Amino acid sequence: TVRKASVGLNTQRTLGEISPLLFGGFAEHMGRCIYEGIYDPASPLADSRGFRPDVMAALKETNYRIMRYPGGNFVSGYRWTDGIGPREKRPRRRALAWRSIESNQFGPHEFMEFAQELGTEPMWAVNLGTGSIQDAADLVEYMNLPTGTLYSDLRAANGHPDPYNVKYWCLGNEMDGPWQIGQMGALEYAEKAVQAAKLMRWMDPSIKTIACGSSATSMPGYPDWDRVVLDHSYAQIDYFSMHHYAANPYPTISNTERLPVDTDSYLASSVHFEEHADTLAAAIRLAKAKNRSKHDVHLCWDEWNVWYRAKGGDGGWSEAPHILEEEYNLEDALVVATWLNTFLRKADVVKIACIAQIVNVIAPIMTRSDGMFKQTIFYPLTLFSNHASGHSLDLLVKSPSYHSARYGEVPQLDVSSSFDPESGKGAHFLVNRSQTESLSVTLNWEDVAPDGLTQAWQMSGADPMAGNSFDHPDAVTAHEIPLPRLDGRSMTLTVPPLSFTTLISHHM
Ligand code: AHR
Repeated sequence: TVRKASVGLNTQRTLGEISPLLFGGFAEHMGRCIYEGIYDPASPLADSRGFRPDVMAALKETNYRIMRYPGGNFVSGYRWTDGIGPREKRPRRRALAWRSIESNQFGPHEFMEFAQELGTEPMWAVNLGTGSIQDAADLVEYMNLPTGTLYSDLRAANGHPDPYNVKYWCLGNEMDGPWQIGQMGALEYAEKAVQAAKLMRWMDPSIKTIACGSSATSMPGYPDWDRVVLDHSYAQIDYFSMHHYAANPYPTISNTERLPVDTDSYLASSVHFEEHADTLAAAIRLAKAKNRSKHDVHLCWDEWNVWYRAKGGDGGWSEAPHILEEEYNLEDALVVATWLNTFLRKADVVKIACIAQIVNVIAPIMTRSDGMFKQTIFYPLTLFSNHASGHSLDLLVKSPSYHSARYGEVPQLDVSSSFDPESGKGAHFLVNRSQTESLSVTLNWEDVAPDGLTQAWQMSGADPMAGNSFDHPDAVTAHEIPLPRLDGRSMTLTVPPLSFTTLISHHM
């Protein structure tokens, strides 16, 4: 027997507006993300700027709306002045975070050219590890001021007279982590972040700032770090960052002991994502009240992804080392889809999100000099990014559940829906978490039914561990499926076990 679930939709019952910046990426000087990833002049496929048209086309397909740069852990030791001026004069340095050599052949100007070509909003992280608050303000001056001052004139001399007007600025990265260059306590960080933000805003009052939250929910300081930083920095920030990486098996706090693989729990990870967002949303409300503030701070989930197989970031002091190259499978793609469902269900508080990262290292696409392939996680990310818009709908979901060791009873169906009143487009994202059971899902439109469905895609398979590779690039993809038929205000379709289905509906 096929189990049954139902979803009640009402285009007037909404959770919040979906920020397009939820569909963002992150490009760090780490492994082969920049070098041999987005900048690969030695490849026969590269254009005159060193960009790869094949990589660019895949990145454009995903339609990233915002791109975080240049780190990550890398930024806490980065001197931005190394990356400007004639390439032959740029210094080579040890990048301590990933024990690699940084050639600085790709720097601020190259990144901005990349971001402009991609049509994505840059989000710049400043170095609050070894860097000073003055360095941070100087970088804002370099990137954003009209000519007529030292650093803005230097930018013009380096070939770009017009200001870049970078709007989004991260105040450091994961400053609570013992792995971080310049790790600090919460209060120490909050004080430095506030002073940096103050100077940066004096330089350019139009910028938006993002303070560091805890680097993981497994950190011993979580969520006290978050509470302290929010309380102290609330007046100077616009966003508060969250980081989380999902894994199967779930890592222990020590991260050395291995638990058994537990796919049922792994597929239920969005329970954890939602709790994390709820906890920080509550901390934000508390800080707003304590600060008697009138302005809102939103969550910026600026590092999220599946990451656990390719551990160990030791680049052996080489350039573009092959480190942290995760290979994704079907269950990872389903977890990514439930994560994106979570962003839609938390659309009122989560306003920016960046998948970490975009190429080669823990990323949706993998390259080598003569080609690339799309990993399984490419598909849910690209479907959400291109189709979720307008309002996130507050759905009435009835689903059978299953027992997971880690999260207890979990609904078999994980679902979110968007509706754009401007275009009349609806998008519905359904994950069947069961490894064995199909699910008959009925969508019931409570107010106005759509005219019909216009497109439908599905990813599924019997083997949760199946993935793509250079030899088998299309083993696991999202393929179009026949359009389910609308019957009055209802539509029923059967979704297979281990599947992710996207349905596009249209209202006149
Ligand atoms: O995204 C990879 C790394 O994960 C980042 O550099 C760091 O911020 C996090 O620990």
